Amino acid sequence: MSEMAKPIFVLNGPNLNMLGTREPAVYGSTTLKDIEGKCHDTADELGLSVDFRQSNHEGDLVGWLQEANSAACGVVLNAAAYTHTSIALYDAVKGGDIPVIELHISNVHAREPFRTHSYISPVATGVILGFGTAGYPLAIRALKGLIEKQ
Ligand code: DQA
Repeated sequence: MSEMAKPIFVLNGPNLNMLGTREPAVYGSTTLKDIEGKCHDTADELGLSVDFRQSNHEGDLVGWLQEANSAACGVVLNAAAYTHTSIALYDAVKGGDIPVIELHISNVHAREPFRTHSYISPVATGVILGFGTAGYPLAIRALKGLIEKQ
């Protein structure tokens, strides 16, 4: 299968299932379902496809990153709070060889100091943060550019 024929995995970590009602002043009122719809629209426009997932469990994210390595052409990863804690996610991203975009809805550098450290950034291909939920379609566009260059 050619790389472009494989989906982009959009992986979302803990508490992102609560978007819409969770801290709207920080994350806005868009739900994860709305974001999923936007991701599919953007992928359709670009001739790509998206496999959109969310879990509150670190091991699910590790397993999906391992799966992505053979089943996806790239990953958009909003690891949420695990960004700041998870060596397992660092290892899973480091162990793969497809592009991974780290994504955050909020500008984590303008928030609590513990959010400024990311285990993902040193092993991600790129980072998008602070653009609200508009970051998801931006990340898909960025991945398209990276995959075309391969
Ligand atoms: C987040 C930022 C993280 O610090 C936080 O734990 C989240 C969401 C974001 O998208 O802005 O759950 O990843």
